[in-house]
Amino acid sequence: MPSSVKVASISEIAPGCAKMVSVGGNEIALFNVDGQFFALDNACPHAGGPLADGEIQGSVVTCCWHGWQFDIKTGAGTLNPRSRVSTYPVKVEGSEIYVEA
Ligand code: FES
Repeated sequence: MPSSVKVASISEIAPGCAKMVSVGGNEIALFNVDGQFFALDNACPHAGGPLADGEIQGSVVTCCWHGWQFDIKTGAGTLNPRSRVSTYPVKVEGSEIYVEA
């Protein structure tokens, strides 16, 4: 049963940045895209590269290992439509960010 866990304060992740957080034993990449927060599996589906360390341009993250790209808002691969990263619901209450995983 998924539970909602406080993972960060909004001040910790500036727009265009990401942070790796842990929820229920899962490593999750938490992104700030223009003030909206999104959560993806931190492990790139290609070979496990850390997406929280990827380069962010707009709503696309590029994996720092081999360059696969994903839409941060949907988890869909932008270069290979068959690749996909799991997404997790995010909610912001006051200045705190919660992820359900
Ligand atoms: S591990 Fe991400 S592109 Fe290879």
